[in-house]
Amino acid sequence: MGAKPVRVGMIGYQFMGKAHSHAYRDLPFYFDNPLKPELKAIAGRNEKAVKEAQEKMGWESYETDWRKVIERDDIDVIDIVTPNHTHAEIAIAAAEAGKHIITEKPLALTVDEAKQMLAAVEKNRVKHMISHNYRFVPAVQFAKKLIDDGRIGRVYHYRGQYLQDFIIDPNFPLVWRLKKEVSGSGALGDIGAHSIDLARFLIGEFSEVTATMETFIKERPVGEMTGGLSAKGDANQMGEVTVDDAVTFLARFENGALGTFEATRFAAGNRNKNQFEINGEKGSIRWDMENMNNLEVYFADDEEGEQGFRLINCTEEVHPYVGAYWPPGHIIGYEHTFIHLIDEFFRGIAEDYQPAPSFEDGVRNQMLLEAIEQSAKERKWMKID
Ligand SMILES: NC(=O)c1ccc[n+]([C@@H]2O[C@H](COP(=O)([O-])OP(=O)(O)OC[C@H]3O[C@@H](n4cnc5c(N)ncnc54)[C@H](O)[C@@H]3O)[C@@H](O)[C@H]2O)c1
Repeated sequence: MGAKPVRVGMIGYQFMGKAHSHAYRDLPFYFDNPLKPELKAIAGRNEKAVKEAQEKMGWESYETDWRKVIERDDIDVIDIVTPNHTHAEIAIAAAEAGKHIITEKPLALTVDEAKQMLAAVEKNRVKHMISHNYRFVPAVQFAKKLIDDGRIGRVYHYRGQYLQDFIIDPNFPLVWRLKKEVSGSGALGDIGAHSIDLARFLIGEFSEVTATMETFIKERPVGEMTGGLSAKGDANQMGEVTVDDAVTFLARFENGALGTFEATRFAAGNRNKNQFEINGEKGSIRWDMENMNNLEVYFADDEEGEQGFRLINCTEEVHPYVGAYWPPGHIIGYEHTFIHLIDEFFRGIAEDYQPAPSFEDGVRNQMLLEAIEQSAKERKWMKID
Protein backbone atom coordinates (compact mmCIF):
# COMPACT_ATOMS: atom_id res chain seq x y z
CA MET A 1 0.00 0.00 0.00
CA GLY A 2 1.34 3.45 -0.86
CA ALA A 3 2.09 6.08 1.75
CA LYS A 4 -0.61 8.72 2.29
CA PRO A 5 0.34 12.29 1.44
CA VAL A 6 0.75 14.80 4.27
CA ARG A 7 1.03 18.45 3.26
CA VAL A 8 3.68 20.51 5.03
CA GLY A 9 4.06 24.27 5.43
CA MET A 10 7.33 25.52 6.89
CA ILE A 11 7.89 28.93 8.54
CA GLY A 12 11.54 30.05 8.17
CA TYR A 13 14.11 28.71 5.76
CA GLN A 14 17.66 29.17 6.97
CA PHE A 15 19.81 26.80 9.14
CA MET A 16 17.04 24.62 10.55
CA GLY A 17 14.94 25.24 7.44
CA LYS A 18 17.61 23.45 5.45
CA ALA A 19 17.88 20.57 7.97
CA HIS A 20 14.11 20.02 8.08
CA SER A 21 13.61 20.41 4.30
CA HIS A 22 16.28 17.79 3.71
CA ALA A 23 14.60 15.44 6.19
CA TYR A 24 11.23 15.68 4.40
CA ARG A 25 12.87 14.98 1.08
CA ASP A 26 14.88 11.98 2.29
CA LEU A 27 12.31 10.36 4.61
CA PRO A 28 10.37 8.41 1.91
CA PHE A 29 13.63 7.38 0.23
CA TYR A 30 14.90 5.51 3.31
CA PHE A 31 11.90 4.76 5.53
CA ASP A 32 8.56 3.03 5.00
CA ASN A 33 6.62 5.72 6.82
CA PRO A 34 2.81 5.54 6.42
CA LEU A 35 2.91 9.23 5.43
CA LYS A 36 4.74 10.83 2.56
CA PRO A 37 5.45 14.58 2.87
CA GLU A 38 4.40 17.02 0.18
CA LEU A 39 6.48 20.20 0.51
CA LYS A 40 3.61 22.61 -0.09
CA ALA A 41 4.68 26.04 1.12
CA ILE A 42 7.54 27.85 2.78
CA ALA A 43 7.26 31.28 4.47
CA GLY A 44 9.70 34.14 4.99
CA ARG A 45 9.54 37.91 5.12
CA ASN A 46 12.09 38.68 2.39
CA GLU A 47 10.50 37.74 -0.95
CA LYS A 48 13.74 37.37 -2.91
CA ALA A 49 15.36 35.18 -0.25
CA VAL A 50 12.29 33.02 0.40
CA LYS A 51 11.78 32.45 -3.33
CA GLU A 52 15.41 31.37 -3.69
CA ALA A 53 15.01 29.01 -0.72
CA GLN A 54 11.75 27.64 -2.15
CA GLU A 55 13.45 26.74 -5.42
CA LYS A 56 16.66 25.40 -3.92
CA MET A 57 15.02 23.27 -1.21
CA GLY A 58 12.20 21.96 -3.44
CA TRP A 59 9.04 23.59 -2.02
CA GLU A 60 5.97 24.04 -4.27
CA SER A 61 5.19 27.63 -3.30
CA TYR A 62 6.12 30.47 -0.94
CA GLU A 63 4.37 33.12 1.15
CA THR A 64 5.81 36.32 2.63
CA ASP A 65 3.46 36.22 5.64
CA TRP A 66 3.45 33.07 7.80
CA ARG A 67 -0.23 33.60 8.60
CA LYS A 68 -1.12 32.85 4.98
CA VAL A 69 0.49 29.39 5.25
CA ILE A 70 -1.52 28.64 8.36
CA GLU A 71 -4.76 29.83 6.71
CA ARG A 72 -4.28 27.58 3.66
CA ASP A 73 -6.54 24.54 3.63
CA ASP A 74 -4.07 22.52 1.56
CA ILE A 75 -1.66 22.33 4.55
CA ASP A 76 -1.84 19.64 7.29
CA VAL A 77 1.40 20.25 9.20
CA ILE A 78 3.18 23.43 10.27
CA ASP A 79 6.93 23.27 10.84
CA ILE A 80 8.39 26.21 12.81
CA VAL A 81 12.07 26.94 12.16
CA THR A 82 12.16 30.62 13.12
CA PRO A 83 13.85 32.33 16.11
CA ASN A 84 12.49 31.52 19.56
CA HIS A 85 10.32 34.62 20.16
CA THR A 86 8.06 33.65 17.24
CA HIS A 87 7.38 30.02 18.25
CA ALA A 88 4.44 30.70 20.58
CA GLU A 89 2.42 32.98 18.30
CA ILE A 90 2.90 30.75 15.24
CA ALA A 91 2.24 27.49 17.12
CA ILE A 92 -0.91 28.76 18.83
CA ALA A 93 -2.30 30.08 15.51
CA ALA A 94 -1.44 26.75 13.81
CA ALA A 95 -3.12 24.75 16.59
CA GLU A 96 -6.26 26.91 16.35
CA ALA A 97 -6.29 26.17 12.60
CA GLY A 98 -6.18 22.43 13.36
CA LYS A 99 -2.66 21.80 12.00
CA HIS A 100 -0.22 19.31 13.48
CA ILE A 101 2.93 21.14 14.64
CA ILE A 102 6.63 20.51 14.87
CA THR A 103 8.68 23.36 16.28
CA GLU A 104 12.33 24.01 16.90
CA LYS A 105 13.62 24.30 20.45
CA PRO A 106 13.48 25.92 22.94
CA LEU A 107 9.68 25.75 22.89
CA ALA A 108 9.23 29.41 23.87
CA LEU A 109 10.72 32.37 25.74
CA THR A 110 9.03 31.64 29.09
CA VAL A 111 7.24 28.86 30.96
CA ASP A 112 4.00 30.84 30.70
CA GLU A 113 4.25 30.99 26.91
CA ALA A 114 5.23 27.32 26.72
CA LYS A 115 2.20 26.31 28.79
CA GLN A 116 -0.11 28.33 26.51
CA MET A 117 1.32 26.46 23.54
CA LEU A 118 0.72 23.09 25.22
CA ALA A 119 -2.83 24.11 26.14
CA ALA A 120 -3.52 25.15 22.51
CA VAL A 121 -2.35 21.84 20.97
CA GLU A 122 -4.22 19.82 23.59
CA LYS A 123 -7.43 21.82 23.16
CA ASN A 124 -7.31 21.44 19.38
CA ARG A 125 -6.24 17.76 19.53
CA VAL A 126 -3.36 18.12 17.12
CA LYS A 127 -0.07 16.20 17.33
CA HIS A 128 2.93 18.21 18.49
CA MET A 129 6.64 17.73 18.62
CA ILE A 130 9.73 19.72 19.63
CA SER A 131 12.89 19.27 17.61
CA HIS A 132 15.31 17.78 20.12
CA ASN A 133 16.99 15.90 17.29
CA TYR A 134 19.92 14.54 19.34
CA ARG A 135 17.57 11.98 20.92
CA PHE A 136 17.39 10.45 17.45
CA VAL A 137 21.09 9.67 17.02
CA PRO A 138 21.20 5.84 16.78
CA ALA A 139 24.01 5.67 19.38
CA VAL A 140 21.92 7.78 21.81
CA GLN A 141 18.87 5.56 21.25
CA PHE A 142 21.08 2.54 21.90
CA ALA A 143 22.44 4.16 25.09
CA LYS A 144 18.83 4.57 26.23
CA LYS A 145 18.16 0.87 25.56
CA LEU A 146 21.24 -0.19 27.57
CA ILE A 147 20.10 1.96 30.50
CA ASP A 148 16.48 0.71 30.31
CA ASP A 149 17.72 -2.90 30.11
CA GLY A 150 19.61 -2.31 33.38
CA ARG A 151 23.05 -2.84 31.83
CA ILE A 152 24.65 -0.09 33.95
CA GLY A 153 22.33 -0.60 36.93
CA ARG A 154 21.43 2.26 39.22
CA VAL A 155 22.63 5.58 37.80
CA TYR A 156 24.89 7.64 40.08
CA HIS A 157 26.24 10.41 37.82
CA TYR A 158 25.13 12.26 34.69
CA ARG A 159 27.72 14.58 33.16
CA GLY A 160 26.36 16.68 30.30
CA GLN A 161 28.35 19.24 28.33
CA TYR A 162 27.51 21.20 25.22
CA LEU A 163 30.58 23.10 24.05
CA GLN A 164 30.79 25.40 21.04
CA ASP A 165 33.07 28.31 20.14
CA PHE A 166 31.32 30.13 17.29
CA ILE A 167 30.88 33.45 19.15
CA ILE A 168 34.27 33.50 20.91
CA ASP A 169 35.51 36.29 18.62
CA PRO A 170 34.38 39.60 20.26
CA ASN A 171 33.64 40.85 16.74
CA PHE A 172 31.12 38.09 16.07
CA PRO A 173 27.98 40.16 15.49
CA LEU A 174 25.11 40.77 17.86
CA VAL A 175 22.65 38.37 16.18
CA TRP A 176 19.21 37.25 17.40
CA ARG A 177 20.82 34.50 19.50
CA LEU A 178 22.42 37.20 21.70
CA LYS A 179 19.25 39.21 22.40
CA LYS A 180 17.10 38.13 25.32
CA GLU A 181 13.84 39.44 23.84
CA VAL A 182 14.33 37.20 20.77
CA SER A 183 16.09 34.13 22.15
CA GLY A 184 15.01 34.01 25.82
CA SER A 185 18.47 33.03 26.98
CA GLY A 186 21.94 32.44 25.51
CA ALA A 187 24.02 29.29 25.65
CA LEU A 188 21.47 27.99 28.15
CA GLY A 189 18.45 27.82 25.82
CA ASP A 190 20.39 27.47 22.57
CA ILE A 191 22.46 24.41 23.46
CA GLY A 192 21.96 23.71 27.19
CA ALA A 193 18.32 22.89 26.32
CA HIS A 194 19.58 19.93 24.27
CA SER A 195 21.70 18.65 27.19
CA ILE A 196 18.67 18.95 29.48
CA ASP A 197 16.54 17.02 27.00
CA LEU A 198 19.15 14.26 26.62
CA ALA A 199 19.42 13.87 30.39
CA ARG A 200 15.62 13.69 30.80
CA PHE A 201 15.38 11.21 27.93
CA LEU A 202 18.18 8.99 29.22
CA ILE A 203 17.83 8.95 32.99
CA GLY A 204 14.63 10.78 33.97
CA GLU A 205 13.35 13.92 35.63
CA PHE A 206 15.35 16.59 37.44
CA SER A 207 14.37 17.46 41.01
CA GLU A 208 16.67 20.44 41.84
CA VAL A 209 19.20 22.71 40.14
CA THR A 210 21.74 25.37 41.10
CA ALA A 211 23.57 27.41 38.51
CA THR A 212 25.99 30.18 37.63
CA MET A 213 26.09 32.12 34.36
CA GLU A 214 28.38 34.66 32.70
CA THR A 215 28.35 37.07 29.77
CA PHE A 216 32.01 37.50 28.83
CA ILE A 217 31.55 39.95 25.93
CA LYS A 218 29.01 42.62 26.83
CA GLU A 219 28.86 44.56 23.53
CA ARG A 220 29.15 43.49 19.90
CA PRO A 221 28.70 44.93 16.41
CA VAL A 222 25.05 44.74 15.34
CA GLY A 223 24.41 42.00 12.76
CA GLU A 224 22.43 39.02 11.54
CA MET A 225 22.74 35.28 10.97
CA THR A 226 23.58 34.34 7.38
CA GLY A 227 23.03 30.57 7.51
CA GLY A 228 24.36 27.76 9.68
CA LEU A 229 26.16 29.47 12.57
CA SER A 230 27.68 32.23 10.38
CA ALA A 231 26.80 35.91 10.60
CA LYS A 232 27.61 39.34 9.21
CA GLY A 233 27.74 42.59 11.15
CA ASP A 234 28.25 46.33 10.98
CA ALA A 235 31.48 47.25 12.78
CA ASN A 236 30.30 50.89 13.16
CA GLN A 237 27.26 50.09 15.24
CA MET A 238 27.52 48.37 18.63
CA GLY A 239 24.79 46.81 20.73
CA GLU A 240 24.44 45.19 24.15
CA VAL A 241 24.52 41.41 24.63
CA THR A 242 21.59 40.59 26.90
CA VAL A 243 21.98 36.82 27.35
CA ASP A 244 24.48 34.45 28.95
CA ASP A 245 27.58 33.38 27.03
CA ALA A 246 28.06 30.37 29.30
CA VAL A 247 26.26 28.48 32.05
CA THR A 248 27.29 25.74 34.44
CA PHE A 249 24.85 23.99 36.74
CA LEU A 250 24.55 21.18 39.23
CA ALA A 251 21.47 19.01 39.42
CA ARG A 252 19.79 16.33 41.46
CA PHE A 253 17.52 13.83 39.72
CA GLU A 254 14.36 12.18 41.05
CA ASN A 255 16.13 8.79 40.86
CA GLY A 256 18.84 10.03 43.23
CA ALA A 257 21.54 10.62 40.57
CA LEU A 258 23.74 13.73 40.65
CA GLY A 259 24.23 15.82 37.51
CA THR A 260 26.88 18.31 36.39
CA PHE A 261 26.25 20.39 33.29
CA GLU A 262 28.01 23.00 31.21
CA ALA A 263 26.85 24.90 28.11
CA THR A 264 29.09 27.47 26.47
CA ARG A 265 29.85 29.04 23.14
CA PHE A 266 33.32 30.05 24.37
CA ALA A 267 35.06 26.64 24.50
CA ALA A 268 37.82 27.31 21.95
CA GLY A 269 38.31 24.45 19.51
CA ASN A 270 35.02 22.74 20.35
CA ARG A 271 32.73 23.20 17.38
CA ASN A 272 29.71 21.16 18.38
CA LYS A 273 30.82 19.01 21.31
CA ASN A 274 27.52 17.83 22.69
CA GLN A 275 28.55 15.03 25.02
CA PHE A 276 27.54 13.03 28.07
CA GLU A 277 28.98 10.45 30.42
CA ILE A 278 26.73 8.36 32.65
CA ASN A 279 28.14 6.30 35.52
CA GLY A 280 26.05 3.51 37.05
CA GLU A 281 26.62 0.77 39.59
CA LYS A 282 27.40 -1.79 36.86
CA GLY A 283 29.05 0.33 34.17
CA SER A 284 29.35 3.60 32.28
CA ILE A 285 28.31 5.06 28.93
CA ARG A 286 29.91 7.94 27.03
CA TRP A 287 28.84 9.69 23.84
CA ASP A 288 30.03 12.73 21.90
CA MET A 289 28.24 14.29 18.91
CA GLU A 290 31.53 14.97 17.12
CA ASN A 291 31.88 11.14 16.88
CA MET A 292 28.16 10.54 16.79
CA ASN A 293 28.13 6.98 15.46
CA ASN A 294 30.21 5.67 18.36
CA LEU A 295 29.23 4.80 21.90
CA GLU A 296 31.82 4.09 24.57
CA VAL A 297 30.65 1.60 27.18
CA TYR A 298 32.22 0.02 30.23
CA PHE A 299 30.67 -3.03 31.90
CA ALA A 300 31.95 -3.92 35.37
CA ASP A 301 31.03 -7.59 34.85
CA ASP A 302 33.56 -8.06 32.03
CA GLU A 303 36.28 -10.63 32.84
CA GLU A 304 39.06 -9.49 35.13
CA GLY A 305 41.95 -8.25 33.02
CA GLU A 306 39.62 -7.46 30.10
CA GLN A 307 37.80 -4.55 31.69
CA GLY A 308 37.89 -1.10 30.17
CA PHE A 309 35.85 1.17 27.92
CA ARG A 310 34.99 -0.42 24.57
CA LEU A 311 33.95 1.42 21.45
CA ILE A 312 30.73 0.35 19.72
CA ASN A 313 30.22 1.70 16.23
CA CYS A 314 26.41 1.90 16.28
CA THR A 315 25.85 1.06 12.62
CA GLU A 316 24.69 -2.58 12.91
CA GLU A 317 21.20 -3.79 11.96
CA VAL A 318 20.30 -4.04 15.67
CA HIS A 319 20.98 -0.36 16.28
CA PRO A 320 17.91 1.88 15.94
CA TYR A 321 17.28 3.54 12.55
CA VAL A 322 20.59 2.67 10.83
CA GLY A 323 19.27 -0.49 9.15
CA ALA A 324 17.39 1.85 6.80
CA TYR A 325 20.64 3.17 5.36
CA TRP A 326 23.88 1.31 4.65
CA PRO A 327 25.80 -1.85 5.65
CA PRO A 328 27.57 -1.84 9.06
CA GLY A 329 30.45 0.62 9.35
CA HIS A 330 29.00 2.90 6.68
CA ILE A 331 28.35 5.83 8.97
CA ILE A 332 25.54 8.40 9.00
CA GLY A 333 25.56 12.10 10.00
CA TYR A 334 23.88 15.14 11.57
CA GLU A 335 21.17 15.48 8.92
CA HIS A 336 19.91 11.94 9.58
CA THR A 337 18.83 12.86 13.12
CA PHE A 338 16.15 15.10 11.60
CA ILE A 339 14.93 12.33 9.28
CA HIS A 340 14.38 10.12 12.35
CA LEU A 341 12.62 12.94 14.19
CA ILE A 342 10.21 13.53 11.28
CA ASP A 343 9.73 9.75 10.90
CA GLU A 344 8.52 9.61 14.50
CA PHE A 345 6.34 12.72 14.07
CA PHE A 346 4.56 11.31 11.01
CA ARG A 347 4.07 7.89 12.62
CA GLY A 348 2.38 9.66 15.52
CA ILE A 349 0.03 11.45 13.11
CA ALA A 350 -0.70 8.34 11.01
CA GLU A 351 -1.14 5.93 13.92
CA ASP A 352 -2.84 8.45 16.22
CA TYR A 353 -0.41 8.50 19.15
CA GLN A 354 1.40 11.50 20.64
CA PRO A 355 5.09 11.28 19.64
CA ALA A 356 7.93 12.41 21.91
CA PRO A 357 9.57 14.77 22.54
CA SER A 358 6.30 16.71 22.64
CA PHE A 359 5.29 20.20 23.75
CA GLU A 360 4.96 18.69 27.22
CA ASP A 361 8.69 17.89 27.09
CA GLY A 362 9.15 21.45 25.84
CA VAL A 363 7.31 22.82 28.88
CA ARG A 364 9.40 20.69 31.29
CA ASN A 365 12.57 21.81 29.52
CA GLN A 366 11.46 25.45 29.74
CA MET A 367 10.79 25.04 33.48
CA LEU A 368 14.40 23.94 33.87
CA LEU A 369 15.71 26.84 31.76
CA GLU A 370 13.76 29.28 33.91
CA ALA A 371 14.82 27.64 37.20
CA ILE A 372 18.49 27.65 36.12
CA GLU A 373 18.38 31.37 35.27
CA GLN A 374 16.58 32.13 38.52
CA SER A 375 19.09 30.10 40.49
CA ALA A 376 22.02 31.94 38.90
CA LYS A 377 20.39 35.26 39.73
CA GLU A 378 19.52 34.38 43.33
CA ARG A 379 22.54 32.13 43.94
CA LYS A 380 20.48 29.33 45.41
CA TRP A 381 19.08 25.83 44.71
CA MET A 382 15.72 25.72 42.93
CA LYS A 383 13.25 22.85 43.24
CA ILE A 384 11.64 21.59 40.02
CA ASP A 385 7.94 20.85 40.29
N1 LIG B 1 17.72 21.39 16.78
C1 LIG B 1 18.88 22.00 16.65
O1 LIG B 1 19.91 21.41 16.77
C2 LIG B 1 18.90 23.48 16.31
C3 LIG B 1 20.04 24.05 15.71
C4 LIG B 1 19.99 25.40 15.37
C5 LIG B 1 18.87 26.16 15.65
N2 LIG B 1 17.80 25.58 16.27
C6 LIG B 1 16.57 26.36 16.55
O2 LIG B 1 15.91 26.59 15.31
C7 LIG B 1 15.28 27.87 15.30
C8 LIG B 1 15.79 28.67 14.12
O3 LIG B 1 17.21 28.76 14.24
P1 LIG B 1 18.16 28.88 12.96
O4 LIG B 1 19.54 28.60 13.41
O5 LIG B 1 17.57 28.11 11.84
O6 LIG B 1 18.02 30.44 12.68
P2 LIG B 1 18.41 31.23 11.36
O7 LIG B 1 18.71 32.61 11.80
O8 LIG B 1 19.39 30.45 10.55
O9 LIG B 1 17.02 31.21 10.54
C9 LIG B 1 15.87 31.81 11.05
C10 LIG B 1 14.80 31.86 9.98
O10 LIG B 1 13.65 32.48 10.51
C11 LIG B 1 13.24 33.59 9.68
N3 LIG B 1 12.63 34.59 10.58
C12 LIG B 1 13.24 35.31 11.51
N4 LIG B 1 12.36 36.10 12.17
C13 LIG B 1 11.16 35.85 11.62
C14 LIG B 1 9.85 36.34 11.82
N5 LIG B 1 9.60 37.28 12.75
N6 LIG B 1 8.85 35.85 11.05
C15 LIG B 1 9.10 34.91 10.08
N7 LIG B 1 10.32 34.41 9.85
C16 LIG B 1 11.33 34.87 10.59
C17 LIG B 1 14.52 34.04 9.02
O11 LIG B 1 14.26 34.74 7.82
C18 LIG B 1 15.22 32.68 8.77
O12 LIG B 1 14.69 32.06 7.62
C19 LIG B 1 15.59 28.49 16.66
O13 LIG B 1 14.51 28.27 17.52
C20 LIG B 1 16.82 27.73 17.14
O14 LIG B 1 16.91 27.68 18.54
C21 LIG B 1 17.81 24.26 16.59
